[in-house]
Amino acid sequence: MSKTKLNLIAAACENMGIGVNGTLPWRLKKEMAYFTTMTSTVKDPQKINAVIMGRTTWDCIPLKYRPLADRLNIVLTHHIDKVKAEVPEGVIVMPGLDAAIEYIEKNDKIESTWVIGGSSIYKVAMEHQNCGKIYLTEIQKSFNCDTFFPNIDKQHFHLVNEEGVSAEKQVEGDISYYFRVYQRV
Ligand SMILES: NC(=O)c1ccc[n+]([C@@H]2O[C@H](COP(=O)([O-])OP(=O)(O)OC[C@H]3O[C@@H](n4cnc5c(N)ncnc54)[C@H](OP(=O)(O)O)[C@@H]3O)[C@@H](O)[C@H]2O)c1
Repeated sequence: MSKTKLNLIAAACENMGIGVNGTLPWRLKKEMAYFTTMTSTVKDPQKINAVIMGRTTWDCIPLKYRPLADRLNIVLTHHIDKVKAEVPEGVIVMPGLDAAIEYIEKNDKIESTWVIGGSSIYKVAMEHQNCGKIYLTEIQKSFNCDTFFPNIDKQHFHLVNEEGVSAEKQVEGDISYYFRVYQRV
């Protein structure tokens, strides 16, 4: 098995929805800040983290925020040439998760790898032998969604406490949520 561990990170509501109409169903500033901190933080200041996303998720990121700063952005698509022509320099376009992992393993500047969605990318990453942890923000409310987080097999993923991740209930406006971490066993 290759050394690259995949960390998945997502926010899902009660019905496991993650998106609607190509955007997030909620606006949660502190949750977004958590995503940024988790995916950007490195122990070695000479390194950066990689974020792997599907082409639709890339399209969903507002222009002013993409590529996601201080991270190597990797976009997965079946239409390599078309997407390569659309993305700015420095964004890596790959035909699948294994190709992305292979690319990361040849790049010794990458510290951690984060899979940031959407649905089908989470699913292949969760089923991949390199999958390590799932960082799932569980929002205590239902939203109308058209995109969903895949089912987590609780026999293979156990809830753990992680240092640095608050186990306390988070509240923003009238929405509450928990930062959960599931580890593959
Ligand atoms: N709440 C959250 O944490 C969260 C996180 C991420 C996204 N979202 C939301 O989720 C929605 C977007 O997600 P989505 O599930 O619709 O789309 P997505 O997974 O981001 O992108 C789907 C596209 O990725 C490419 N792709 C998928 N699997 C691939 C594979 N195995 N190999 C190569 N390319 C592959 C294909 O691109 P081509 O069509 O170009 O071939 C496919 O059409 C938005 O609403 C977004 O806001 C929410």
